[in-house]
Amino acid sequence: MPVITCIDDLKRLHKRRTPKMFYDYAESGSYSEQTFRENTSDFAQIRLRQKVAVDMSGRSTESTMVGQKVAMPVALAPVGLTGMQRADGEIKAARAAAKFGVPFTLSTMSICSIEDVAEATQAPFWFQIYTLNDDKFNRDVLNRARAAGCSALVITVDLQILGQRHKDLKNGLTAPPKFTLPVLMDLATKWQWGLEMLGTKRRFFGNIVGHVEGVSDPSSLSTWTAEKFDPTLNWDKIKKLMDMWGGKVILKGILDVEDAEMAASVGADAIVVSNHGGRQLDGALSSIRVLPEIVSAVGNKTEVWLDSGIRSGQDVLKALALGAKGTMIGRAFVYGLGAMGEPGVTKALEVIQKELDISMALCGERNVHDLKRENLLIPQGFLNAYS
Ligand SMILES: Cc1cc2nc3c(=O)[nH]c(=O)nc-3n(C[C@H](O)[C@H](O)[C@H](O)COP(=O)(O)O)c2cc1C
Repeated sequence: MPVITCIDDLKRLHKRRTPKMFYDYAESGSYSEQTFRENTSDFAQIRLRQKVAVDMSGRSTESTMVGQKVAMPVALAPVGLTGMQRADGEIKAARAAAKFGVPFTLSTMSICSIEDVAEATQAPFWFQIYTLNDDKFNRDVLNRARAAGCSALVITVDLQILGQRHKDLKNGLTAPPKFTLPVLMDLATKWQWGLEMLGTKRRFFGNIVGHVEGVSDPSSLSTWTAEKFDPTLNWDKIKKLMDMWGGKVILKGILDVEDAEMAASVGADAIVVSNHGGRQLDGALSSIRVLPEIVSAVGNKTEVWLDSGIRSGQDVLKALALGAKGTMIGRAFVYGLGAMGEPGVTKALEVIQKELDISMALCGERNVHDLKRENLLIPQGFLNAYS
């Protein structure tokens, strides 16, 4: 087993062990990928303020997210096609998250279905909904999530229409992959992936195939979104969906203060400041840059979380110090899954928790709840560089 010291180690293994089509699917942003790149480079601009001779004993990363106890304020974000990064990927990631004590979110566009994950795990997980222009599907899928014991609903509000990711078009992304010559040549070097995939029956969009009709190519993500996603989503519909669910709701994909205020006013239990990992509006600001103004606008009305660009515990620390009550990780756990399956997701979580804990201690803090702006050194003008 290779020595893994950081998330980048997992990323290298993920690239080596996973078909190019699916590695590229994870490792891309939309269009020029400017926002995708800035999500990480903006985190890197923020520095940490060292404090010495402070009692470091009795440290804790524990917290709560929408009232749920968590080992650290880091949830696994919804990631479509996780079961193509590794066979039964959603089940493996959900198990790792449950054992570690952090929430797992199942995407609408998962390979394993809601029922598959519920059957294979004990802890309740969260379900993420993409609203389709099909009321019956929306109602049924919420009933299925409720029946599976899902403890919160994540409504993604930033993807009524798909931002183009060039690599997916060039690779001809489908689930399962179509066996073209380049795909077969690539698979020849990814034999472990292929063997595991042959051993599972879960190779299609498990929440959708058999539950929705009228899509011309059910293996294609871009066809699904173009034909079935609801382009008319608005705040009334979001509110209706929240009422239909009747439980905890997290609105994910907020980057604007006015939108954050709307989200708080419709009663979201939490909002995720997110640009979808740079996969939607290319040219949007990084999440970490817009976080402080959203926290100051609505932080006393709803829990404000952040995702997009987190690759380390230091990044989590920076988000918490700027006022986030929680965070989500997408690629960081996908790298772990693609690298080593369930143990890889556990490794990703361990790496992040250890980095968070040690960095917090070296900043002179013992509890994630005590992190604050003063723990950071931020370049002049960074937070109000754009208006
Ligand atoms: C491969 C991939 C697939 C994703 N699929 C979904 C999805 O199905 N639903 C959703 O709400 N967000 C989806 N996202 C966005 C993530 O939930 C999250 O916002 C993003 O990954 C955070 O950025 P990070 O990857 O830099 O941590 C996806 C992200 C990636 C990388």
